Amino acid sequence: MIALACDHGGFDLKEAAIEVLKELGLEYRDFGTHDRKSVDYPVYGARAARAVSSGECDRGIILCGTGVGIGITANKVPGIRCVTCSDTYSARMSRLHNNANMIALGSRVLGTELAKDILRIWLTTDFSDEQRHRDRVEMIARVERGEEIE
Ligand code: RB5
Repeated sequence: MIALACDHGGFDLKEAAIEVLKELGLEYRDFGTHDRKSVDYPVYGARAARAVSSGECDRGIILCGTGVGIGITANKVPGIRCVTCSDTYSARMSRLHNNANMIALGSRVLGTELAKDILRIWLTTDFSDEQRHRDRVEMIARVERGEEIE
């Protein structure tokens, strides 16, 4: 189950994200917003991130004008590793090396077709099973818990 959320600034990419989810046969839960009326991006970033953090959703796609504000918000929720992404290489590597469980895209930054390619790659790439990457992701969790890592 994929969490999907956007603010008014990200709304224009939402249909593109839904098309990719359907193309890949992935179920999703839509946390709003549902039109272009101005709303506060932290509300929608937090809704989707909390659904991923709780395990209700496996991963999340969030959209705002830049992908920045909503991504920063998501990263404040424990257990979230959200990548704000504008290219396919980072999309792939964020899964392979960082096990990113959320992606934030900016609808004022990306064209529709690039956004769809980024999402296809991000949704179909698995985390690398190499120990060094698992260790580094665990270090991120330790930083989140306020633990020393060096
Ligand atoms: C809304 O105008 C805009 O600030 C928001 O969508 C996002 O880009 C914030 O980071």
